[in-house]
Parts: sequence; structure tokens; C-alpha cells
Amino acid sequence: MTAGRKHLRVSAFAKINLDLRVLARRPDGYHELRTTFQSIALADTLTFTRSTGSFRISCSDPACPTDESNLVWRAAALIWRAAKRRGGPKGVSVRIDKRVPMQAGLGGGSSDAAAALRALAKWWRVNIAPEEFRRLASAVGADVPYFLEGGTALGLNRGDVLVPLDDIARAWVVLIVPGFGVSTKDAFAWWDRGQLEQEGQKRQERQEGQEGKSPIRRRRRIANDLEAVVAARHPIIRRLTRELKREGASHASLSGSGSAVFGLFASRLAAERAAAALAGYKIVVTRTLSRRECGKLAAT
Ligand code: C5P
Repeated sequence: MTAGRKHLRVSAFAKINLDLRVLARRPDGYHELRTTFQSIALADTLTFTRSTGSFRISCSDPACPTDESNLVWRAAALIWRAAKRRGGPKGVSVRIDKRVPMQAGLGGGSSDAAAALRALAKWWRVNIAPEEFRRLASAVGADVPYFLEGGTALGLNRGDVLVPLDDIARAWVVLIVPGFGVSTKDAFAWWDRGQLEQEGQKRQERQEGQEGKSPIRRRRRIANDLEAVVAARHPIIRRLTRELKREGASHASLSGSGSAVFGLFASRLAAERAAAALAGYKIVVTRTLSRRECGKLAAT
């Protein structure tokens, strides 16, 4: 964006979680994670336009909030404050063209926010050191810092401490988006409840001297710790990952806290064949993006 330009358009790419381990609940209520983020070639478009009056958001999807609760608004407020300007942000409006399904575990809202942080820092000519920029991103949301990097990256702590990894070989992705969304907050609360129940069961076994005597429950190898608790409330999730595997996915899992599930395929043809066989669901066929591709394609 150059000064004086009236519009700035950027792409905000979605992610999937190739794996996700929930390690522990933290004293601040968040959860300690270890997850592998992966960018995919599915993006919202954000168009910034010079305007008079206070900051405004409009969105192609009527279900998307356009007030202060939208993470893009929070991002704008933080950059405005970093620019040491008074009051609330003004002089620009943002149009969000939503293609990334919401409440699907694909990070659409967080990616929009990261794109807004970057674009508005340029727009308002604010110079922010990289470390401070990452801190601002993390204040907007736990997975916002990832979207400043893109590609394949390990997320630690709340998911906001990142270790860039070598990009995985390009894979084709079949996303299935169920007709319901899952709130991330709810999914982690379900995980907490599951942990409490397991602890209670162990305590009871100890009291009854049955420790280690109950039949060993074999855990299916699941890549995402939230999958079991989300699938317990939405059994279709397990059916969808099974169907993706049956259709040839080398890996199939819930993404983040859901509700989207994804399968990885070696070729576009294989992905499209699987998508055709899964007719009846809302499906998106896309591919993984490397860090470099993400950086290049972000500013369209
Ligand atoms: O940071 P963000 O607002 O995206 O997180 C949404 C909610 O997800 C948090 O309020 C929290 O309940 C839950 N969460 C969590 N542990 C994480 C990330 C998110 O418990 N590492």
C-alpha cells in the first residue's frame, strides 16, 4: 500500500491443524498446547477503503459480526493505539468477503485479524518492532500470531509461541464443513470436563483397589485431542473422518476445535474423486500453502 491510495486489498488464508495436543489447563483458563499449523489456499478477502467518520466493517456473510466483537475491530483499535492516536480508529472502512467458514476450526477470524494488523500498520504508517507486533497479535487471539507467519509451524503455549517448521510437501485437502459450528471456548470446556471425569474414575478405582485391573481401553490413534470431546457431542465428526480415510486420505482429522474435518490427498485428482464420492456434504477442495506462497499471495 502506498500513501494516498484509496484501496488496499489483502487475502487472509485459513489453516488446518495437522495435529493438536492439549497438555494442561493453565491458571489463566487457557490451555497449554502443542499443535502443527498448516496454511491452506482458502482465503477471505479484506478490502480497506479510505472513508470519513469512524472505523466501519461490512461483511458478505450476515452471520459475521461487524461491531467491536469482530477481531478485525480489535486489531484496528490496537494499531490505532500503537500509533498514539486519540479516541477510536477512524478514516478507513473494511469490507470482508468471507469464504472461510466460521466456527469451523479454520482460523478465519484470526487470519482476518492478522491481515488487518499488517495492513493497518502500513495504512497508518506505524512502525512497530516485530516482537511488539507479535505481542499485539497474541493480545487479539491465541492463534493470531501464527497468521503473521503462515506455512507449516509448531504452535506452543496457548498456540501463540511459534516455531517455523520446514514446509510439508504440497498436499491436496478435502474439507468437509458440517452444518453446525463449534465454539472454541466450549470445546476446551468439554476437554476440561473429560479430564475431571477421568480423574474421578481413577480415584474411585484406587479406593476400590481396582487400579490397573479394569480392561485397558485402547485409544484410537487420533491426531487431535479435541476430536474425542467434540465427536462425543457431534457423532457425525467421527463418521466424516472415517469416510475421508475410506476415500483414500493419508490423514484425516478434525481441524482445531472443529467443526470442519479435513483429509489429505497426494494429488488434485484423488482429492476431487474423494470429494465427488462424499456428495451431500458441504465440501471444499483446496491445497496446502508453503510459507513463501502465503507471503506472496497475501497481498493480492
Ligand atoms: O484466544 P482466542 O480468543 O482465540 O480463544 C478463544 C477461547 O478458546 C478462549 O477464551 C479459551 O476459552 C479457549 N482457548 C484455550 N486455550 C488455548 C486457546 C484457546 O482454552 N490455547
